[in-house]
Amino acid sequence: MPPDTAIDSLAVPNHVAIIMDGNGRWARSRGLPRPYGHRRGVEAVRRTVEAAADLGISYLTLFGFSTENWKRPTEEVAELLRLLRMYLRGHVAELCENGVRLRVIGDRSRFDQDIIDLIGHAETLTASNTRLTLTVALNYGARQELVAATRRLIREALAASPDDDTLVDETAIARNLFTAELPDPDLIIRTSGEKRISNFLLWQAAYAELVFVDTLWPDFNRLELEQAIGEYGRRERRYGALVSGE
Ligand code: IPE
Ligand code: IPE
Ligand code: MG
Repeated sequence: MPPDTAIDSLAVPNHVAIIMDGNGRWARSRGLPRPYGHRRGVEAVRRTVEAAADLGISYLTLFGFSTENWKRPTEEVAELLRLLRMYLRGHVAELCENGVRLRVIGDRSRFDQDIIDLIGHAETLTASNTRLTLTVALNYGARQELVAATRRLIREALAASPDDDTLVDETAIARNLFTAELPDPDLIIRTSGEKRISNFLLWQAAYAELVFVDTLWPDFNRLELEQAIGEYGRRERRYGALVSGE
């Protein structure tokens, strides 16, 4: 499908990352238990993935479960894991129909073996899709990611010459992050009105444009994504340099 005409003229970011927040408040505002919000959140994921592919975005990264989210009540964590299983079992064919390659970042070893297997299976089945790379961050924390990268670099350094500066430079750090194969995000969207990063892509977000929207994640849709991209298109990215012509 060609890019949507409504944003044809706008710059479409290559990599959009989203902190999907507000499921609990969405449910509470309707007098429903939090799990209902998470269930509706899955529908928003499906809508957003399809819209991102249609709009010509190459990389979409979704924050699905943080290393800190294990601190939530057991029943809520169980519901999130149930939904993850359902998504991985039920929606891989849909990902393939949309040309979506699925990758998971984060420490998957903490999940039950059946989830680890489902993730591996989904990654394998979608590996040759090229329209959109969908990266889902699960049991992901940027600080933990940086600690793990540092540990690997120390191990490499111990085995190498102490005065080799290329052992620890920006490229070496980036190459040891979960996102080694991904470009840095151009646009990070957070829903629900919270204006914080919550341990997401701390290194990679160095020059990302941040867009915060009040919409709760279960209500997020194609129009919301287009509006965020419109906002991105109006920003001037400078990377610390002066704008040409000034
Ligand atoms: C986002 O919604 C989903 C996850 C963090 C897993 P929340 O569950 O954080 O919803 P709020 O922020 O409590 O409304
Ligand atoms: C961030 O949302 C994590 C995900 C979206 C998966 P949280 O709801 O966990 O973040 P805080 O607690 O508001 O910072
Ligand atoms: Mg939240």
